[in-house]
Amino acid sequence: MANVVLGVTGSIAAYRAADLARELMRGGCTVRVCLTPAAEKFVTRVLFESLTGQPCLVWAFDEPEAGRMAHIDWARQADLLVIAPATANILNKIASGVADDMLSTIALAYTGPMLVAPAMNPAMLANETTQASLRRLVSRGVEVVQPAEGEVACGEHGQGKLASVSEIASAAMALIGWTRRLEGRRVLVTSGPTREPIDSVRFLSNRSSGKMGAALAKAALWMGADVTVVTGPAAVPPPLGPKVVRVETALEMLAAASREAPTADLILAVAAVADYRAAEQHPGKMRRTEEDLVLRLVPNPDVVAELGRLAKPDAVLVGFAAEPTDDLAAARAKLERKGLHFIAANDVSQAGIGFESDENELVLIGREGSPERSGRLSKIGCAKWLLDRVAQALPGERETP
Ligand SMILES: Cc1cc2nc3c(=O)[nH]c(=O)nc-3n(C[C@H](O)[C@H](O)[C@H](O)COP(=O)(O)O)c2cc1C
Repeated sequence: MANVVLGVTGSIAAYRAADLARELMRGGCTVRVCLTPAAEKFVTRVLFESLTGQPCLVWAFDEPEAGRMAHIDWARQADLLVIAPATANILNKIASGVADDMLSTIALAYTGPMLVAPAMNPAMLANETTQASLRRLVSRGVEVVQPAEGEVACGEHGQGKLASVSEIASAAMALIGWTRRLEGRRVLVTSGPTREPIDSVRFLSNRSSGKMGAALAKAALWMGADVTVVTGPAAVPPPLGPKVVRVETALEMLAAASREAPTADLILAVAAVADYRAAEQHPGKMRRTEEDLVLRLVPNPDVVAELGRLAKPDAVLVGFAAEPTDDLAAARAKLERKGLHFIAANDVSQAGIGFESDENELVLIGREGSPERSGRLSKIGCAKWLLDRVAQALPGERETP
């Protein structure tokens, strides 16, 4: 049974959250409601406590169980956080991390999937700040059930009406179904660049930031998987939750990932492992001279191919190819050569996607069928898109309805 925290904020549409709570309960969810103090002007705690049979929180210091911090307990225990209706105020607050009441504090402490259903006056929705907050939330993987067009409570016409209860409930139930998709599966993600030392202070590396690996680890966690991340020195930290093994070099990456690979059901080899390392590591710091310096490099082992050899026969192995052109031939050749089930290619020559950026655009090539294109999405959006597709290849997996 999924635990849903339903946040209700200060909109006239707050009364419709009562039907939404019932709809989610009919879907088999345990629903606990958190009202903002403004929502309490429209609806009452008693209404939701009677409907759900659960305590309802309002104030930042509400503590239904003495001595327990409810905001942390509720954030930890929730499988899904739904905010419906979501005011402009709460969207702007959670987008920028303000935590000045119980709901925004739970939202800040919560690391799982979230759904928001905005409801407000059309000018408040169109406001640049509200739009920027919505974009920010989407880039973190928050699902938005868009408000409908029509006459809003203030008498104006435009977009801003809360979506229908059935639309919000189905989006929530779909998200809950999705969060079960990798339950019981072990997922291994290799992430970030590697560093190949030249001397005690210098190294060879590449521009991988680790953002795509972190996004995949987060999405896999949201889907219920038991996740291990083996990461090189990435610019962004891995999400909270998975087992994290930190490595520096390709050889360390190979050793650490090899220990995890034999028990993994899904291997996502996102790390940009250096193809070469210095043949000799200079002891101490090399001194500058006026002479040319020739570095001899030797090839590193092929980490992905090695993981493929160690993996269970029915494990699914996904590689990544950062290709400077939109020519998929190189990616396809890599798929064959390394015995991958899928390869996700992205064109790193395009501005604004790929290395270091927050967005990506993937082309997923499988052993069969035509390549699929994700279109330009946030990295977490790409991660969700990719996992939905590769999960279909796992043994015993049914296609999502
Ligand atoms: C009658 C009335 C209706 C309101 N409806 C909305 C609404 O639908 N959407 C919205 O964003 N704000 C609405 N507001 C303004 C919010 O209640 C106000 O910004 C409040 O601070 C929101 O607090 P909260 O986000 O903590 O619930 C309304 C205010 C009043 C007085």
